[in-house]
Amino acid sequence: MSADKTFYITTPIYYVNDKPHIGHAYTTIACDVMARFKRQDGYDVRFLSGTDEHGEKVAKSAAAAGKSVQAFCDENAQKFRDLVKTLNASNDDFIRTTEPRHITACQALWTTLEENGQIYLGNYAGWYSIRDEAFYGEDETRMEGAQRVGPTGAPVEWVQEPSYFFKLSEWGDKLLAYYDKHPDFILPHTRRNEVASFIRQGLTDLSVSRTSFDWGVPVPGNPNHVMYVWIDALTNYITALGYPDTEAALYRQFWPSAHHIIGKDILRFHAVYWPAFLMAAGLDVPERVFAHGWWTNEGQKISKSLGNVIDPLQLIETYGLDQTRYFLMREISFGGDGDFSPRAMVQRINSDLANDFGNLAQRILSMIAKNCGGVVPAPGPQTADDTTLLNAPLAALGDMRAAMDAQQIHFSLNRLFEVVGEANKYVDTQAPWALKKTDPARMESVLYTVAETVRRLAILAQPVMPGSMARMLDLVASAPGERSFAHVDGAFAIKPGTVLPAPQGIFPRYVEKASEPTA
Ligand code: MSP
Repeated sequence: MSADKTFYITTPIYYVNDKPHIGHAYTTIACDVMARFKRQDGYDVRFLSGTDEHGEKVAKSAAAAGKSVQAFCDENAQKFRDLVKTLNASNDDFIRTTEPRHITACQALWTTLEENGQIYLGNYAGWYSIRDEAFYGEDETRMEGAQRVGPTGAPVEWVQEPSYFFKLSEWGDKLLAYYDKHPDFILPHTRRNEVASFIRQGLTDLSVSRTSFDWGVPVPGNPNHVMYVWIDALTNYITALGYPDTEAALYRQFWPSAHHIIGKDILRFHAVYWPAFLMAAGLDVPERVFAHGWWTNEGQKISKSLGNVIDPLQLIETYGLDQTRYFLMREISFGGDGDFSPRAMVQRINSDLANDFGNLAQRILSMIAKNCGGVVPAPGPQTADDTTLLNAPLAALGDMRAAMDAQQIHFSLNRLFEVVGEANKYVDTQAPWALKKTDPARMESVLYTVAETVRRLAILAQPVMPGSMARMLDLVASAPGERSFAHVDGAFAIKPGTVLPAPQGIFPRYVEKASEPTA
């Protein structure tokens, strides 16, 4: 098993034949939040994202665009690199499946599987959908007019060709036993049950090569075949750690502490094929596969044909980066499906961020600016209310850790915002503006207590809103080296007498522009 404080987290690698959409942004942000959370909690973290560039679909898209496949991939991979940057994702590496390191890794894994008697050459015949990159059984297809289509409605065609097979049929019982022994390998648990019942219906051997196209990793010893996408795609997670060199520093440190965060549509590949490939190659199985849900757009399934694809760059431009990150993480429980609407977005921004969190900081820091000359006042004796509030962030951190360990990002945020609520209540009941006249010393204690609480809360909120929280921490003069979870502790509290910068609003209210349709 991996060392205690080691954490490896991965996004799916994104197909380059698509434009970045909300699904890509969602997984990337979620992974970034978890990576940042663990880093702030003292873990050694490795965070990987990248692009999936092989397969017939990509080759066809390139041809349709009138470009060479490599040029097409280069151009589109760059869009995903740019997206990851724009999202302020803190990934340590970005892998492309067309890189030499990946070709080497795939071929090494293949050779090991072959040596272990897990791959054989046979013939494949079946209904194949280019769009889904999947074969379907006869009973999964139906006629739509003159066209046979698969369960997703995508056209399928009859394909017959020699193919290598992976002996997946041998792994069903072992996979089920693995799930039993590691009940949190697949989360949410409902998803694990779905996967287990899929396996119980019986696994058939898996076709893992193609001869009908050549845009892929050549099969070692038989270059007429290229590897069929999933064996190629999944291997990226170990390529990036230096595989096939299992003595490589990254591999030794981070495998198998992997947490694969994926959408529910690609769970089967990650929870069935991937551990089977790894076990068959004598490698360790990752620690977690977590399947998140899908976003709809105002109640409708998102699809290109409906023209309702949500562009994450547009969201960021309209609402702000941290606002978008916060909304996507808070609005739905991670693992469930959820709905996007401008109304819901604006509601979150104006109520949670502007009114609750932003205003808490703004009103207290303005009072310090006005009444204490912008210098942190010295607190008097602590009342029970002061102590309760000051302790609340640390208590929340414990719950947030437990939630994040189960990828319950929304719960972690709910918990954090409970404390924001407590802090606002404290300000309302203590009413420092009234104390100004009746008991200025107590007013100073109250202002101190809230400023220090804001410091603690801003540290806790950094993983989700890194840019805004860095600014909030600057406003309370928190030293840049004292912003990890260890520094939530009172030992690092703001020092009375510290001169604070002029307060500035962190979260402006979102005001609908007149030209925009009201949501
Ligand atoms: N290339 C494969 C993954 C290989 S991983 C070894 C792939 N790529 S993808 O670009 O099509 O999908 C990327 C992710 O976007 C998937 O996890 C998918 O679930 C997610 N989403 C696509 N649409 C989505 C929504 N509407 N909502 C949330 N996530 C969605 O699959």
